[in-house]
Amino acid sequence: MKKLLLLVPMLLALACTEKSDTPAYLDPSQPLEVRVEDALFRMTLEEKVAMTHAQSKFSSSGVPRLGIPELWHTDGPHGIRPEVLWDDWDQAGWTNDSCTAFPALINLAATWNRDMSALYGRCIGAEARYRKKDILLGPGINMGRTPLNGRTFEYMGEDPYLAGALVVPYVQGVQSNGVAACVKHFAVNNQETRRTATNSIVDDRTLYEIYLPAFKAAVQEGGAWAVMGSYNLYNGQFNCHNKKLLCDILKGEWGFDGVVVSDWGGCRDDDEAVANGLDIEMGTWTNGLRGAASDSYSNYHLARPFLERLRDGRATQEQLDDKVRRILRTIFRTSMASEPHFGAFTSPEHFAAARQIAADGVVLLKNDGVLPLHVPKGGKLLVVGENAYKMMVVGGGSSNLKTKYEVVPLDALHEAFDGKAEVVWERGYVGDTNTVYNKVVTGQNLSESRSAEQLLADAVAAAAQADMVLYMGGLNKSAHQDNESTDREDIVLPYGQDALIEALAAVGKPLVVVNISGSPVAMPWASRVNAIVQGWYGGSESGHALVDVLTGAVNPSGKLPFTMPIALADGPLKTERQYPGVKPEGEQWWQEYYDEGVFIGYRWYSTLKIPVRFAFGHGLSYTTFDWADASVKRKGGSWTVSVTLKNTGDVAGAEVVQLYVSDQEASVARPARELKGFEKVYLKPGESRRVQFTLSLQDLSFFDAAAHAWVAEPGEFQALIGASSDDIKAVLPFRYEK
Ligand code: BGC
Repeated sequence: MKKLLLLVPMLLALACTEKSDTPAYLDPSQPLEVRVEDALFRMTLEEKVAMTHAQSKFSSSGVPRLGIPELWHTDGPHGIRPEVLWDDWDQAGWTNDSCTAFPALINLAATWNRDMSALYGRCIGAEARYRKKDILLGPGINMGRTPLNGRTFEYMGEDPYLAGALVVPYVQGVQSNGVAACVKHFAVNNQETRRTATNSIVDDRTLYEIYLPAFKAAVQEGGAWAVMGSYNLYNGQFNCHNKKLLCDILKGEWGFDGVVVSDWGGCRDDDEAVANGLDIEMGTWTNGLRGAASDSYSNYHLARPFLERLRDGRATQEQLDDKVRRILRTIFRTSMASEPHFGAFTSPEHFAAARQIAADGVVLLKNDGVLPLHVPKGGKLLVVGENAYKMMVVGGGSSNLKTKYEVVPLDALHEAFDGKAEVVWERGYVGDTNTVYNKVVTGQNLSESRSAEQLLADAVAAAAQADMVLYMGGLNKSAHQDNESTDREDIVLPYGQDALIEALAAVGKPLVVVNISGSPVAMPWASRVNAIVQGWYGGSESGHALVDVLTGAVNPSGKLPFTMPIALADGPLKTERQYPGVKPEGEQWWQEYYDEGVFIGYRWYSTLKIPVRFAFGHGLSYTTFDWADASVKRKGGSWTVSVTLKNTGDVAGAEVVQLYVSDQEASVARPARELKGFEKVYLKPGESRRVQFTLSLQDLSFFDAAAHAWVAEPGEFQALIGASSDDIKAVLPFRYEK
């Protein structure tokens, strides 16, 4: 029957070709599936197999004989990666591949703004298209299970609803340029430590409630055309060919019709690669990550071994055709799309978008009134810290970029205070002196001859002479910080920064701490400083965006997309078996048990009432808001939750109205609150708006693993409306009766 159904479009395609000289697959007016079947019908076995694996570091074959182009892949997810050699990671040395660097995805997540995500997607998609890339390797949407995950900065935080809401416009924006978004890394890939040798053991409820929803939203609501499998194992099987994740859930339950791409070198087995849902094998070397001679793409699992299997009957034509159909679909959606796209590269609009998004995500964590910055006319602003000066677009792993320019905060401060106040810089500490990454050169000189003691003493002495001190430190993108392939070892700030901040606080001048990082850090000095700002890796316009907020040119409206804990030990991962995993005797792989279940991030802290430094969703403004007339009303099979928000201050600003749900009498352990809605509302002074959310039965549900279904249990619930997960403005009880 299935075969018969496949015949229909094929015959249709042939019929079309009879009428005109243009083959149906080349005819953009033909329906997608007709083009796919027509191309497939014309291809040889060898041509088909050639499409299912890499032919270079970042491309997979087309069908040269038929004029079907190669697929060009690119990192992702913060800008378009500079060109590397055909079969080597060295820079290709192009001079026209310096891109617009957009903010790190964690910065985008901190905007809590769907419009910013759409803008980001549209712009980065246009850059990819201009550079003739078909698959953008991003966005990354793995959940923030541990603050130590080295790739936290590349992801969208700790909440599945937030990441799901933001990934959808990103994907749609990218794809509106005829570029496939490749959502990664699917799935339960929540650490870098031993990322290629760790088996994640997760129960189904946790999988469906926490680790899958953002991917599902990307696929079903965003319509993502590509998904990247992750390096780790789940249920004892590598995720690039994991039957349950790829065949049963992604392609089965969610009906995904796009292409599954392996992470680079993530494919590990000949037979599973054929059978378990992988469509294109990409790689670092041959034979997974285990190393072999370079330039041996024909040895890939989905190359010669696949061909052999097809010839001797161990693999079927149907398995091959399913992969090739998906690959052709991707080509007809991108480089051979019915509507041509040309994109745009490093346009002023893209840099302006990068600045706007970066600023929209800056989070004001604390402010006793010292911000926005008011330095007395002719006064002295002392800036302390390496991150005021260090370029951050380079580094961090595969998201490393070569950008046309990068404005660092110190430059932006000089610009902003030019002629108004003196801006002086003291380094304070030495962090990472690297200025070259993957052969991308920043051109900065970060060498330092002073000792750590001298640097601290110089900073403190300068503070005594200043009117105000602006500390700009945090993390960077070197190993064991915000960096791919290594996790952090603690959340304590590195390089003795805590002692430096304490010493500066002791001087007694107004002190603002700007933490630039992509993941949570401990802030033991929080009560002794006047203001704290969470900045991020903001891309090309990073410095401008940050300084826009510090000076008040932009009123801060970012919100934390993760919890900022007091100490690492407060979090849900208590044992080695939870993190980073254990290797029982006789086991081939490290085993990691997600014993904490659904209780990660604020779900953990709020349920166990463990104090945190700054809660998920927290972020202040230079204006004030009034919350009034909160209500919940049943409307058929759903509930309408509303609140009126008014800007009661004297500057325009935005607040993120957050809606959490709490199940008061569940038969299973449920978090004290779960995010189910949010809306960023911009208001002029005095302006007010009624904000409205709809809660569906799905929003009240948990995933019942035994029944393999979402279940809403009748009983008492609460709708919680707040400005953060721990700043609840209204608790609205309601009942659900069947
Ligand atoms: C990373 C991916 C990236 C790929 C290609 C891998 O190491 O995990 O996120 O897209 O390399 O550079």
